[in-house]
Amino acid sequence: MDQRMDVVSYGRANPLWNPWANDRRTFELYRRRCRREAEEMTCAAQAAEILAARARSGETLLDAGCAGGYYYWSFRQRHVPIEYHGLDYTPELIDLARTEMCPATGLAPERFVLGAIENLDSEFDNILCFNVLTNSPHYALPLERLLCCARRRVLIRESLGEDLIVRYTADPYLDEGKRHIRVYHNTYPIDEVVSFMASYGFVVTRIRDERTADGTEFVVDIPHQWRILLAERK
Ligand SMILES: C[S@@+](CC[C@H](N)C(=O)[O-])C[C@H]1O[C@@H](n2cnc3c(N)ncnc32)[C@H](O)[C@@H]1O
Repeated sequence: MDQRMDVVSYGRANPLWNPWANDRRTFELYRRRCRREAEEMTCAAQAAEILAARARSGETLLDAGCAGGYYYWSFRQRHVPIEYHGLDYTPELIDLARTEMCPATGLAPERFVLGAIENLDSEFDNILCFNVLTNSPHYALPLERLLCCARRRVLIRESLGEDLIVRYTADPYLDEGKRHIRVYHNTYPIDEVVSFMASYGFVVTRIRDERTADGTEFVVDIPHQWRILLAERK
């Protein structure tokens, strides 16, 4: 059984500013994750375990900012009986998901949709968004779409701390000739994000991030405080 619903969104990131369209090294890592040639991400395993304990059989799940869609393997390995969909605004990554994941898993290509979170307009039981909003100009608008589109729960992992820190810096790890492209590496105030999620009718729980033990991790030489929040509809 496949594709019970359509994911409604549109929009693609402009390669002029989109780091994921200009980063061969990361693209190849994502390809290896699709092929299960790279180690499973600790946070992907944790996401699957958190949702395995809560989602009922047949519930839908949207992986928002899915890249190559490789989180699917973490759900499948743990026999989490959800219907997985992926959304991403980078065309090269949706192509990667369709080329690598669909033949290997039997998922229909329509399970991977090109579109921006900001334009999402269809409902899912569960929405997962890991390591995405930190790289957005701000969390509120995309997170609002996720909250409005979630019937049961939203699970996020982003850099969250005491205060708002906006960083918009050139990335020396991008492809040669593209290193002028600036990327957001923001940290958002955790209390504010919790209140924001609660204001849409959710009970919000903090879950310790297993990879970092709620510490600080340097990503492209920038400190990130990865924190996991689970929002469940009242
Ligand atoms: C750092 S990668 C994380 C990928 C995956 N979630 C993971 O944890 O490995 C961020 C991904 O989110 C996508 N993305 C970022 N902002 C987005 C947006 N506003 N709408 C849709 N996709 C977005 C990017 O194209 C990229 O694939």
